[in-house]
Amino acid sequence: MRILSGMRPTGRLHLGHKKGVLDNWLKLQDEHHCFFFAADWHALTTDYANPGIVQQTIWDMLIDWLAVGIDPEKCVIFIQSEVPQHAELHLLFSFITPLPWLERVPTYKDQIEQLREKDLGTYGFLGYPLLQSADILMYRADAVPVGEDQVPHVELTREVARRFNHLYRKPDQPLFPEPESLLMPASKLPGLDGRKMSKSYNNTIELGEEWKVTDKKVRTMPTDPARVRRDDPGTPEKCPVWDFHKLYSTEEERAEVHAGCTSAGIGCLDCKKVLLAHLEEELQPIRERRADIAAHPDDLRDVVRSGNERARIEAERTMEKVRRTLKMGYRV
Ligand code: TRP
Ligand code: SF4
Repeated sequence: MRILSGMRPTGRLHLGHKKGVLDNWLKLQDEHHCFFFAADWHALTTDYANPGIVQQTIWDMLIDWLAVGIDPEKCVIFIQSEVPQHAELHLLFSFITPLPWLERVPTYKDQIEQLREKDLGTYGFLGYPLLQSADILMYRADAVPVGEDQVPHVELTREVARRFNHLYRKPDQPLFPEPESLLMPASKLPGLDGRKMSKSYNNTIELGEEWKVTDKKVRTMPTDPARVRRDDPGTPEKCPVWDFHKLYSTEEERAEVHAGCTSAGIGCLDCKKVLLAHLEEELQPIRERRADIAAHPDDLRDVVRSGNERARIEAERTMEKVRRTLKMGYRV
């Protein structure tokens, strides 16, 4: 299968991104033909007033992709705006997309409400799911790994593909396949405070942060509030540390921690130490690779440059067909 997914550059990634998205990508890259890209134009749909931010956030994000093992030998890694064909296809799709299709996308009204401080009454913000459709159809992707919130965007993409094929192609010669959503289950890893892990809650473990920073965050992480003193028994189900154990610890360790907590046989720090060992095992190689990649910016640029080129070749292949279909091959 051909798989495509994008991520808006938001800077350094955290463990929630790894558990929720990147671990999925790692599996997919071994089995399929994958395209992964930094959606920098998408960032401008909401942050058009601060264009400079992307310069830093995009590299931080790409470094983290590579540091966790997204492998340019196995997949095509590129930057959206380096493949201007996306903008061309978006424009051509805009002619055939009825406005109500965009207005009824659930994220549209939600985001306008949620980001009241930004004026999102723009043409580009309304059209942003259509830009996403262009991203997906450009590579004639069969499947798009996405979170639940993005499923309606893939649904729109299917409708746009269908409409394009119907308007311009013979029924037995569709140009665009209709992509499926590959729903990625929401990450089971909460933030340090038990809420969703998110930079805006200040409850993250960043990939690549110094170990002593992670260590301290975990040691000071809130636990079951009933365990005020060491000899108060606790309820693991009321404790965010337990959610981490469910993801990281062995069955035996979990049994021990559970018994120790409910009987006050162990203290919270003992319990956290079991977890810390697992976190260190996962995070240390990432941190080392991250430092290495960041120390060689020219190599990183080469990797992305060659991904951009491979993406452009694929994109141009699609656009030639699209232009021919729309009778725009003037050959001048
Ligand atoms: N809209 C996606 C998000 O906010 C990012 C994105 C842009 C994307 N283009 C895409 C995801 C194409 C999948 C396919 O997360
Ligand atoms: Fe949470 Fe572990 Fe303390 Fe129990 S022992 S309250 S599970 S940190």
